[in-house]
Amino acid sequence: MSDQAKIRVLIVDDIAETRDNLEKLLFFEKDIEVVAKASTGREAVAMAKQYTPDVILMDINMPEMDGIAATEAILSQVPATQVIMMSVQGEQDYLRRSMLAGAREFLIKPISADELYNAIRHVNRLRTTDRRYVSSGAPQGGEAAEANQQGQVVAVFSPKGGVGTSVVAANLAVALRQSTNKKVALVDGNLSLGDQGVILNLKSSKTIVDLANRISELDRELLNDVMIAHPTQVKVLLAPPNPQTGELVTSDHLRAIIDLLRREYDYVVIDTQSSFQDKALAMLDAADRIMVLMTLEMTCIKNITQFLEVAGLLEYPAEKITLVLNKADNRMGLPVNVVEDTIRHKIALQIANAGADMALAINKGVPLVIDKRTSQTSKDIFALANLVGRAVVAAPAEPGKAVPAKPAEKEKSGLFSRIMTKR
Ligand SMILES: Nc1ncnc2c1ncn2[C@@H]1O[C@H](COP(=O)(O)OP(=O)(O)O)[C@@H](O)[C@H]1O
Ligand SMILES: [Mg+2]
Repeated sequence: MSDQAKIRVLIVDDIAETRDNLEKLLFFEKDIEVVAKASTGREAVAMAKQYTPDVILMDINMPEMDGIAATEAILSQVPATQVIMMSVQGEQDYLRRSMLAGAREFLIKPISADELYNAIRHVNRLRTTDRRYVSSGAPQGGEAAEANQQGQVVAVFSPKGGVGTSVVAANLAVALRQSTNKKVALVDGNLSLGDQGVILNLKSSKTIVDLANRISELDRELLNDVMIAHPTQVKVLLAPPNPQTGELVTSDHLRAIIDLLRREYDYVVIDTQSSFQDKALAMLDAADRIMVLMTLEMTCIKNITQFLEVAGLLEYPAEKITLVLNKADNRMGLPVNVVEDTIRHKIALQIANAGADMALAINKGVPLVIDKRTSQTSKDIFALANLVGRAVVAAPAEPGKAVPAKPAEKEKSGLFSRIMTKR
Protein backbone atom coordinates (compact mmCIF):
# COMPACT_ATOMS: atom_id res chain seq x y z
CA MET A 1 0.00 0.00 0.00
CA SER A 2 1.42 3.40 -0.88
CA ASP A 3 2.01 6.02 1.77
CA GLN A 4 -0.67 8.17 0.28
CA ALA A 5 -3.37 5.67 0.96
CA LYS A 6 -2.48 5.38 4.62
CA ILE A 7 -4.84 6.65 7.26
CA ARG A 8 -2.98 9.49 8.96
CA VAL A 9 -3.55 9.51 12.69
CA LEU A 10 -2.86 12.09 15.41
CA ILE A 11 -2.71 10.75 18.98
CA VAL A 12 -3.72 13.11 21.79
CA ASP A 13 -3.25 12.10 25.43
CA ASP A 14 -1.66 13.82 28.40
CA ILE A 15 -0.05 10.57 29.57
CA ALA A 16 3.12 9.70 27.65
CA GLU A 17 2.75 5.98 28.27
CA THR A 18 -0.75 5.92 26.75
CA ARG A 19 0.46 7.81 23.69
CA ASP A 20 3.31 5.36 23.23
CA ASN A 21 1.12 2.32 23.75
CA LEU A 22 -1.36 3.50 21.17
CA GLU A 23 1.44 4.22 18.75
CA LYS A 24 2.86 0.72 19.26
CA LEU A 25 -0.51 -0.83 18.66
CA LEU A 26 -0.78 1.00 15.35
CA PHE A 27 2.80 0.42 14.24
CA PHE A 28 2.23 -2.85 12.38
CA GLU A 29 -0.97 -1.82 10.65
CA LYS A 30 0.04 -1.25 7.05
CA ASP A 31 -2.81 1.12 6.25
CA ILE A 32 -2.38 3.32 9.33
CA GLU A 33 0.34 5.84 10.08
CA VAL A 34 0.78 7.94 13.23
CA VAL A 35 1.81 11.37 11.96
CA ALA A 36 2.04 13.20 15.28
CA LYS A 37 1.41 13.00 19.00
CA ALA A 38 0.11 15.77 21.23
CA SER A 39 0.10 15.91 25.02
CA THR A 40 -2.40 18.73 25.57
CA GLY A 41 -5.63 19.94 24.01
CA ARG A 42 -3.97 23.11 22.84
CA GLU A 43 -1.10 21.22 21.22
CA ALA A 44 -3.69 19.01 19.54
CA VAL A 45 -5.37 22.01 17.95
CA ALA A 46 -2.06 23.30 16.61
CA MET A 47 -1.01 19.88 15.31
CA ALA A 48 -4.36 19.22 13.71
CA LYS A 49 -3.97 22.43 11.73
CA GLN A 50 -0.39 21.61 10.83
CA TYR A 51 -0.82 17.94 9.87
CA THR A 52 -4.52 17.79 8.87
CA PRO A 53 -4.75 14.16 10.06
CA ASP A 54 -7.51 11.89 8.80
CA VAL A 55 -8.29 10.60 12.27
CA ILE A 56 -7.58 11.91 15.77
CA LEU A 57 -7.49 9.65 18.83
CA MET A 58 -8.50 12.09 21.55
CA ASP A 59 -8.30 11.60 25.28
CA ILE A 60 -11.31 13.20 26.96
CA ASN A 61 -9.71 14.05 30.31
CA MET A 62 -6.81 16.42 30.01
CA PRO A 63 -5.89 19.40 32.19
CA GLU A 64 -6.62 22.89 30.89
CA MET A 65 -8.27 22.23 27.53
CA ASP A 66 -10.03 18.87 27.65
CA GLY A 67 -10.76 16.56 24.72
CA ILE A 68 -14.22 17.99 24.17
CA ALA A 69 -13.07 21.59 23.91
CA ALA A 70 -10.15 20.52 21.71
CA THR A 71 -12.51 18.57 19.43
CA GLU A 72 -14.79 21.56 19.02
CA ALA A 73 -11.86 23.84 18.24
CA ILE A 74 -10.34 21.37 15.79
CA LEU A 75 -13.53 20.58 13.89
CA SER A 76 -14.30 24.23 13.34
CA GLN A 77 -10.91 24.62 11.66
CA VAL A 78 -10.16 21.19 10.21
CA PRO A 79 -13.68 19.90 9.50
CA ALA A 80 -12.65 16.86 7.44
CA THR A 81 -10.88 15.26 10.39
CA GLN A 82 -12.68 12.49 12.26
CA VAL A 83 -12.34 12.36 16.03
CA ILE A 84 -12.43 9.20 18.13
CA MET A 85 -12.90 10.08 21.79
CA MET A 86 -11.23 7.93 24.45
CA SER A 87 -12.26 7.80 28.07
CA VAL A 88 -11.60 5.69 31.12
CA GLN A 89 -15.25 5.71 32.10
CA GLY A 90 -18.18 5.03 29.82
CA GLU A 91 -20.40 7.67 31.32
CA GLN A 92 -23.50 8.53 29.34
CA ASP A 93 -22.83 12.21 29.83
CA TYR A 94 -19.32 11.92 28.39
CA LEU A 95 -20.65 10.08 25.39
CA ARG A 96 -23.38 12.65 24.83
CA ARG A 97 -20.98 15.60 25.15
CA SER A 98 -18.44 13.96 22.83
CA MET A 99 -21.01 13.33 20.16
CA LEU A 100 -22.33 16.87 20.46
CA ALA A 101 -18.79 18.17 20.06
CA GLY A 102 -18.60 16.25 16.80
CA ALA A 103 -16.70 13.07 17.75
CA ARG A 104 -17.59 10.07 15.64
CA GLU A 105 -16.70 7.22 17.94
CA PHE A 106 -16.26 6.69 21.61
CA LEU A 107 -13.83 4.10 23.00
CA ILE A 108 -13.46 3.11 26.62
CA LYS A 109 -9.98 2.42 27.96
CA PRO A 110 -8.38 -0.08 28.10
CA ILE A 111 -8.86 -0.25 24.35
CA SER A 112 -8.22 -3.53 22.59
CA ALA A 113 -6.21 -3.58 19.39
CA ASP A 114 -9.18 -4.75 17.33
CA GLU A 115 -11.47 -2.09 18.73
CA LEU A 116 -8.90 0.52 17.86
CA TYR A 117 -8.31 -0.67 14.28
CA ASN A 118 -12.01 -1.06 13.61
CA ALA A 119 -12.84 2.39 14.93
CA ILE A 120 -10.07 4.06 12.93
CA ARG A 121 -11.05 2.32 9.71
CA HIS A 122 -14.73 2.97 10.29
CA VAL A 123 -14.41 6.71 10.86
CA ASN A 124 -11.97 6.99 7.98
CA ARG A 125 -14.58 5.44 5.69
CA LEU A 126 -17.04 8.09 6.88
CA ARG A 127 -14.49 10.73 6.00
CA THR A 128 -13.93 9.45 2.50
CA THR A 129 -17.64 9.15 1.77
CA ASP A 130 -18.25 12.68 2.97
CA ARG A 131 -20.35 14.52 0.44
CA ARG A 132 -19.85 11.87 -2.17
CA TYR A 133 -23.07 11.39 -3.93
CA VAL A 134 -23.87 7.73 -4.06
CA SER A 135 -26.90 7.86 -6.32
CA SER A 136 -25.21 8.18 -9.67
CA GLY A 137 -21.66 7.21 -8.90
CA ALA A 138 -20.70 10.77 -9.69
CA PRO A 139 -17.22 11.95 -8.88
CA GLN A 140 -16.72 12.55 -5.21
CA GLY A 141 -15.69 15.64 -3.39
CA GLY A 142 -18.07 18.21 -4.80
CA GLU A 143 -21.12 19.62 -3.20
CA ALA A 144 -24.43 18.34 -4.51
CA ALA A 145 -24.91 21.56 -6.47
CA GLU A 146 -21.49 21.54 -8.05
CA ALA A 147 -21.82 18.00 -9.33
CA ASN A 148 -25.28 18.93 -10.63
CA GLN A 149 -26.70 16.43 -8.23
CA GLN A 150 -29.91 16.60 -6.37
CA GLY A 151 -30.19 15.64 -2.76
CA GLN A 152 -32.93 13.46 -1.41
CA VAL A 153 -35.90 15.21 0.20
CA VAL A 154 -37.51 13.20 2.98
CA ALA A 155 -40.73 14.50 4.50
CA VAL A 156 -41.72 13.12 7.89
CA PHE A 157 -45.50 13.31 8.06
CA SER A 158 -48.46 12.00 9.95
CA PRO A 159 -52.13 12.55 9.26
CA LYS A 160 -52.54 12.62 13.02
CA GLY A 161 -50.93 15.10 15.42
CA GLY A 162 -48.88 14.02 18.42
CA VAL A 163 -47.58 10.87 16.73
CA GLY A 164 -43.92 11.95 16.90
CA THR A 165 -43.34 13.67 13.56
CA SER A 166 -41.20 16.44 15.00
CA VAL A 167 -38.99 14.34 17.27
CA VAL A 168 -38.52 11.66 14.62
CA ALA A 169 -37.62 14.30 12.00
CA ALA A 170 -35.01 15.86 14.31
CA ASN A 171 -33.50 12.53 15.31
CA LEU A 172 -33.56 11.22 11.75
CA ALA A 173 -31.63 14.27 10.55
CA VAL A 174 -28.97 13.78 13.25
CA ALA A 175 -28.77 10.02 12.62
CA LEU A 176 -28.37 10.63 8.88
CA ARG A 177 -25.60 13.10 9.49
CA GLN A 178 -23.80 10.80 11.89
CA SER A 179 -24.12 7.66 9.84
CA THR A 180 -23.32 9.14 6.42
CA ASN A 181 -21.33 12.27 7.24
CA LYS A 182 -23.08 13.96 4.34
CA LYS A 183 -24.66 17.39 4.20
CA VAL A 184 -27.97 17.23 6.01
CA ALA A 185 -30.61 19.96 6.28
CA LEU A 186 -33.59 19.91 8.59
CA VAL A 187 -36.56 22.12 7.75
CA ASP A 188 -39.20 22.96 10.32
CA GLY A 189 -42.25 22.93 8.11
CA ASN A 190 -44.65 23.69 10.95
CA LEU A 191 -45.19 27.27 9.93
CA SER A 192 -47.47 28.26 12.78
CA LEU A 193 -46.00 26.40 15.76
CA GLY A 194 -42.60 24.96 14.99
CA ASP A 195 -40.89 22.77 17.59
CA GLN A 196 -37.42 22.20 16.17
CA GLY A 197 -35.84 25.16 17.97
CA VAL A 198 -36.85 23.59 21.29
CA ILE A 199 -36.12 19.97 20.37
CA LEU A 200 -32.60 20.87 19.25
CA ASN A 201 -32.05 23.74 21.68
CA LEU A 202 -31.32 26.23 18.92
CA LYS A 203 -32.03 29.89 19.25
CA SER A 204 -31.85 32.25 16.34
CA SER A 205 -33.75 35.25 15.12
CA LYS A 206 -33.35 33.95 11.57
CA THR A 207 -36.09 31.72 10.26
CA ILE A 208 -37.77 30.58 7.08
CA VAL A 209 -39.63 33.91 7.04
CA ASP A 210 -36.35 35.66 6.22
CA LEU A 211 -36.13 33.55 3.08
CA ALA A 212 -39.76 34.16 2.17
CA ASN A 213 -39.31 37.92 2.59
CA ARG A 214 -36.35 37.94 0.21
CA ILE A 215 -37.44 35.18 -2.10
CA SER A 216 -36.31 36.99 -5.26
CA GLU A 217 -32.77 37.10 -3.86
CA LEU A 218 -32.81 33.48 -2.69
CA ASP A 219 -29.43 31.91 -3.29
CA ARG A 220 -26.82 29.77 -1.52
CA GLU A 221 -25.45 32.72 0.41
CA LEU A 222 -28.80 33.84 1.77
CA LEU A 223 -29.68 30.25 2.61
CA ASN A 224 -26.40 29.74 4.51
CA ASP A 225 -26.97 32.95 6.37
CA VAL A 226 -30.42 31.93 7.58
CA MET A 227 -29.77 28.28 8.40
CA ILE A 228 -28.39 27.59 11.83
CA ALA A 229 -25.87 24.86 12.60
CA HIS A 230 -26.65 22.27 15.26
CA PRO A 231 -23.48 21.01 17.00
CA THR A 232 -23.79 17.78 14.98
CA GLN A 233 -23.50 19.91 11.81
CA VAL A 234 -27.08 19.34 10.75
CA LYS A 235 -28.17 22.69 9.31
CA VAL A 236 -31.58 23.74 10.51
CA LEU A 237 -34.12 26.07 8.93
CA LEU A 238 -36.23 27.20 11.85
CA ALA A 239 -39.94 27.92 11.83
CA PRO A 240 -41.36 31.43 12.04
CA PRO A 241 -41.30 33.01 15.50
CA ASN A 242 -45.10 33.09 15.78
CA PRO A 243 -48.20 31.91 13.91
CA GLN A 244 -48.98 35.27 12.36
CA THR A 245 -45.59 35.65 10.63
CA GLY A 246 -45.93 32.04 9.55
CA GLU A 247 -48.67 33.19 7.22
CA LEU A 248 -46.15 35.18 5.21
CA VAL A 249 -44.65 31.94 3.90
CA THR A 250 -46.55 30.69 0.85
CA SER A 251 -46.59 27.39 -1.01
CA ASP A 252 -44.55 29.01 -3.80
CA HIS A 253 -41.94 30.09 -1.29
CA LEU A 254 -41.77 26.57 0.08
CA ARG A 255 -41.30 25.08 -3.37
CA ALA A 256 -38.47 27.50 -4.20
CA ILE A 257 -36.77 26.95 -0.84
CA ILE A 258 -36.95 23.15 -1.03
CA ASP A 259 -35.69 23.29 -4.59
CA LEU A 260 -32.58 25.17 -3.52
CA LEU A 261 -32.06 22.97 -0.46
CA ARG A 262 -32.19 19.92 -2.69
CA ARG A 263 -29.32 21.32 -4.74
CA GLU A 264 -27.26 22.32 -1.72
CA TYR A 265 -27.69 19.30 0.56
CA ASP A 266 -27.43 15.56 0.23
CA TYR A 267 -30.41 15.01 2.50
CA VAL A 268 -33.22 17.41 3.30
CA VAL A 269 -35.45 16.24 6.15
CA ILE A 270 -38.73 18.13 6.54
CA ASP A 271 -40.81 18.11 9.69
CA THR A 272 -44.28 18.62 8.25
CA GLN A 273 -47.60 19.80 9.53
CA SER A 274 -50.38 17.29 10.03
CA SER A 275 -52.62 18.84 7.40
CA PHE A 276 -53.91 18.60 3.83
CA GLN A 277 -53.75 22.35 3.29
CA ASP A 278 -51.82 23.71 0.30
CA LYS A 279 -48.63 24.48 2.20
CA ALA A 280 -48.44 21.01 3.73
CA LEU A 281 -49.17 19.46 0.34
CA ALA A 282 -46.45 21.58 -1.29
CA MET A 283 -43.95 19.93 1.05
CA LEU A 284 -45.32 16.44 0.46
CA ASP A 285 -45.33 17.00 -3.32
CA ALA A 286 -41.71 18.15 -3.23
CA ALA A 287 -40.57 15.15 -1.20
CA ASP A 288 -38.90 12.19 -2.89
CA ARG A 289 -40.02 10.13 0.01
CA ILE A 290 -42.60 10.51 2.75
CA MET A 291 -42.03 8.77 6.06
CA VAL A 292 -45.60 8.41 7.22
CA LEU A 293 -45.73 7.95 10.97
CA MET A 294 -48.50 6.13 12.72
CA THR A 295 -49.29 4.64 16.11
CA LEU A 296 -51.47 1.69 17.01
CA GLU A 297 -54.51 3.75 17.87
CA MET A 298 -57.78 3.47 16.01
CA THR A 299 -58.04 7.22 15.39
CA CYS A 300 -54.60 7.20 13.83
CA ILE A 301 -55.31 4.11 11.76
CA LYS A 302 -58.46 5.75 10.38
CA ASN A 303 -56.47 8.83 9.35
CA ILE A 304 -53.74 6.69 7.82
CA THR A 305 -56.32 4.92 5.67
CA GLN A 306 -57.61 8.27 4.48
CA PHE A 307 -54.12 9.59 3.83
CA LEU A 308 -53.21 6.53 1.76
CA GLU A 309 -56.33 7.08 -0.33
CA VAL A 310 -55.47 10.75 -0.89
CA ALA A 311 -51.89 9.83 -1.78
CA GLY A 312 -53.27 7.48 -4.44
CA LEU A 313 -55.53 10.18 -5.83
CA LEU A 314 -52.62 12.60 -5.94
CA GLU A 315 -50.77 9.92 -7.92
CA TYR A 316 -47.88 9.67 -5.53
CA PRO A 317 -45.92 6.60 -6.59
CA ALA A 318 -46.17 3.72 -4.10
CA GLU A 319 -42.43 3.78 -3.39
CA LYS A 320 -42.69 7.41 -2.30
CA ILE A 321 -44.51 6.33 0.83
CA THR A 322 -42.90 4.47 3.73
CA LEU A 323 -45.11 3.59 6.66
CA VAL A 324 -43.39 3.76 10.03
CA LEU A 325 -44.92 2.67 13.29
CA ASN A 326 -43.81 4.98 16.09
CA LYS A 327 -44.04 4.44 19.85
CA ALA A 328 -44.24 0.75 19.02
CA ASP A 329 -45.40 -1.19 22.02
CA ASN A 330 -47.08 -4.56 22.14
CA ARG A 331 -49.54 -3.54 24.83
CA MET A 332 -51.85 -1.71 22.48
CA GLY A 333 -54.19 -4.60 21.81
CA LEU A 334 -53.81 -4.26 18.05
CA PRO A 335 -51.43 -6.73 16.38
CA VAL A 336 -49.34 -5.16 13.63
CA ASN A 337 -50.28 -7.75 11.02
CA VAL A 338 -53.98 -7.12 11.59
CA VAL A 339 -53.44 -3.40 11.18
CA GLU A 340 -51.45 -4.02 7.99
CA ASP A 341 -54.34 -6.02 6.61
CA THR A 342 -56.79 -3.28 7.50
CA ILE A 343 -54.85 -0.51 5.82
CA ARG A 344 -53.62 -2.81 3.05
CA HIS A 345 -50.12 -1.50 3.42
CA LYS A 346 -46.97 -2.90 4.97
CA ILE A 347 -45.29 -1.17 7.87
CA ALA A 348 -41.66 -0.84 6.82
CA LEU A 349 -40.17 -0.14 10.22
CA GLN A 350 -41.05 0.20 13.87
CA ILE A 351 -39.63 2.76 16.30
CA ALA A 352 -39.77 1.58 19.90
CA ASN A 353 -41.56 3.56 22.53
CA ALA A 354 -38.91 5.40 24.52
CA GLY A 355 -41.31 6.27 27.31
CA ALA A 356 -40.19 9.16 29.47
CA ASP A 357 -36.71 9.18 27.91
CA MET A 358 -38.10 10.99 24.89
CA ALA A 359 -39.65 13.78 26.94
CA LEU A 360 -36.44 13.97 28.95
CA ALA A 361 -34.36 14.37 25.79
CA ILE A 362 -36.73 17.05 24.49
CA ASN A 363 -36.54 18.92 27.77
CA LYS A 364 -32.75 18.81 27.67
CA GLY A 365 -32.73 19.94 24.07
CA VAL A 366 -30.55 16.97 23.12
CA PRO A 367 -31.79 14.57 20.43
CA LEU A 368 -32.48 11.08 21.78
CA VAL A 369 -30.04 9.51 19.31
CA ILE A 370 -27.34 11.37 21.21
CA ASP A 371 -28.81 11.49 24.70
CA LYS A 372 -29.69 7.78 24.80
CA ARG A 373 -27.64 6.57 21.91
CA THR A 374 -27.77 2.90 22.75
CA SER A 375 -31.53 2.71 23.46
CA GLN A 376 -33.75 0.61 21.22
CA THR A 377 -35.53 3.74 20.01
CA SER A 378 -32.23 5.28 18.91
CA LYS A 379 -31.25 2.06 17.15
CA ASP A 380 -34.57 2.10 15.32
CA ILE A 381 -34.05 5.70 14.23
CA PHE A 382 -30.58 4.81 12.93
CA ALA A 383 -32.26 1.96 11.04
CA LEU A 384 -34.64 4.51 9.56
CA ALA A 385 -31.66 6.63 8.51
CA ASN A 386 -30.14 3.55 6.97
CA LEU A 387 -33.34 2.97 5.00
CA VAL A 388 -33.13 6.51 3.65
CA GLY A 389 -29.44 6.12 2.83
CA ARG A 390 -29.94 2.78 1.14
CA ALA A 391 -32.79 4.05 -1.02
CA VAL A 392 -30.37 6.37 -2.77
CA VAL A 393 -28.17 3.47 -3.74
CA ALA A 394 -31.04 1.19 -4.64
CA ALA A 395 -32.64 3.60 -7.05
CA PRO A 396 -29.86 5.30 -8.96
CA ALA A 397 -30.60 8.08 -11.35
CA GLU A 398 -29.88 7.51 -15.02
CA PRO A 399 -26.19 8.05 -15.67
CA GLY A 400 -25.39 11.68 -16.17
CA LYS A 401 -28.88 12.75 -15.37
CA ALA A 402 -29.91 14.49 -12.21
CA VAL A 403 -32.79 13.09 -10.22
CA PRO A 404 -35.76 14.67 -11.98
CA ALA A 405 -37.39 17.54 -10.19
CA LYS A 406 -40.91 16.83 -9.06
CA PRO A 407 -43.43 17.52 -11.79
CA ALA A 408 -44.42 21.13 -11.44
CA GLU A 409 -47.97 20.77 -10.27
CA LYS A 410 -50.09 23.39 -11.88
CA GLU A 411 -51.09 25.58 -9.09
CA LYS A 412 -54.51 24.36 -8.29
CA SER A 413 -55.47 25.38 -4.85
CA GLY A 414 -56.98 23.00 -2.34
CA LEU A 415 -57.08 19.25 -2.17
CA PHE A 416 -60.59 19.03 -3.56
CA SER A 417 -59.88 20.84 -6.81
CA ARG A 418 -56.58 18.99 -7.31
CA ILE A 419 -58.21 15.63 -6.96
CA MET A 420 -61.33 16.46 -8.96
CA THR A 421 -59.44 17.90 -11.93
CA LYS A 422 -57.32 14.74 -12.08
CA ARG A 423 -60.32 12.60 -12.76
N1 LIG B 1 -40.74 6.82 20.02
C1 LIG B 1 -41.26 7.57 21.00
N2 LIG B 1 -41.21 7.13 22.27
C2 LIG B 1 -41.73 7.86 23.28
N3 LIG B 1 -42.31 9.04 23.12
C3 LIG B 1 -42.40 9.54 21.87
C4 LIG B 1 -41.87 8.84 20.75
N4 LIG B 1 -42.09 9.58 19.65
C5 LIG B 1 -42.74 10.69 20.07
N5 LIG B 1 -42.91 10.69 21.39
C6 LIG B 1 -43.63 11.69 22.21
O1 LIG B 1 -44.84 12.00 21.54
C7 LIG B 1 -45.18 13.36 21.72
C8 LIG B 1 -45.47 14.00 20.40
O2 LIG B 1 -44.27 14.12 19.67
P1 LIG B 1 -44.12 15.22 18.52
O3 LIG B 1 -42.85 14.95 17.82
O4 LIG B 1 -44.34 16.59 19.06
O5 LIG B 1 -45.35 14.80 17.59
P2 LIG B 1 -45.97 15.53 16.32
O6 LIG B 1 -44.91 16.39 15.73
O7 LIG B 1 -46.37 14.40 15.42
O8 LIG B 1 -47.15 16.30 16.82
C9 LIG B 1 -44.06 13.98 22.50
O9 LIG B 1 -44.45 14.03 23.84
C10 LIG B 1 -42.90 13.01 22.33
O10 LIG B 1 -42.07 13.01 23.44
MG1 LIG C 1 -44.83 18.40 15.38
